[in-house]
Amino acid sequence: MPTVFSGIQATGNLTIGNYLGAIKNWVVMQSDFDCIFCIVDLHSITMPQDPVALKEACVSNLALYIASGLDPNKSILFAQSAVSYHTELAWIFACSTPMGWLNRMTQFKDKAGKDKEKACLGLYAYPVLMAADILLYGATHVPVGEDQTQHIELARDIVGAFNRQYKVEYFEEPICINSKVALRIMSLRDGRKKMSKSDESDYSRINLTDTPDLIIQKIKKAKTDAVPNIFYDEENRPEISNLLNIYCAFTGVELDAAQVHFKGHSTSQFKDELSATIIEHLKPVQQEYKVLMTDKGQLLKIAQQGADKANAIAEKRMREIKQIVGLWDN
Ligand code: TYM
Repeated sequence: MPTVFSGIQATGNLTIGNYLGAIKNWVVMQSDFDCIFCIVDLHSITMPQDPVALKEACVSNLALYIASGLDPNKSILFAQSAVSYHTELAWIFACSTPMGWLNRMTQFKDKAGKDKEKACLGLYAYPVLMAADILLYGATHVPVGEDQTQHIELARDIVGAFNRQYKVEYFEEPICINSKVALRIMSLRDGRKKMSKSDESDYSRINLTDTPDLIIQKIKKAKTDAVPNIFYDEENRPEISNLLNIYCAFTGVELDAAQVHFKGHSTSQFKDELSATIIEHLKPVQQEYKVLMTDKGQLLKIAQQGADKANAIAEKRMREIKQIVGLWDN
């Protein structure tokens, strides 16, 4: 079976953007692929983190992975920093990656802000570590939201650069898999901005652990427009279109059918149904999450078992890679 790799940063809460854009697809892929899903804590430290909160986020994200339907008996679930080969391979790739390629990465430009000189090297090299995550396991399929597409393209370029440099066909170009409906879930405050766990306003996102009351509040306060009727128009009505997308992504209802369903509804009626839908779909995830979080020892055990499995694959591949590069491989 082909191998799938994907990951989410360990920072605070996961949002419905992470869930619909990534995790929901991962759950489905478990039956047809060898799946490896990671909590990418090394990527998290490209921005300042509180060490205690980071470790806690890692455990709580693992609980959310499992509560969402990822099965540790089917998929390898682990924390990136538990397998040190990720950083080792990232270094090897860093030595084959022209800086010009990294200069084009839009996420670096966004995250570094105005003062790029002050951004850390890790933030700049972030996509190289991503390529290492994927290629360390020979993964060929990478299910992510649209914002990560450019990074996967870079991983493909790195494959070419490495194979050419060492005259091998060792790495295979990974394919980026995007969810059709939940390509890009947008902020509830600004339909032109991605919903993000790092946005200053908690009202810009729905977190997977938000209570039903909070979800109702957030959807009620979600920005909309003064146009009557509920219909999709991404260009002129980005906020309503985003809410429709969220509805479709949760329910699996096609966009056309959803527009027919909401014809004649007022915005507030539409919002009521949307929040009820979100609450209903998140309920089993939240219930399972609560149970899992009562036994953190068990979660740590699952993460360790996942890390052991990942280590075993990575160690073998790393020895082959070191041989290709001419590094010490005893
Ligand atoms: P991260 O932690 O920012 O996001 C995790 C996953 O969630 C998706 N996502 C969204 N999808 C749709 N709409 C949104 N609003 C939204 N917000 C987040 C992201 O596209 C992603 O799939 N660098 C990556 C993590 C990573 C990784 C990897 C991914 C590290 N190594 C290797 C794949 C393969 C990141 O920061 O994702």
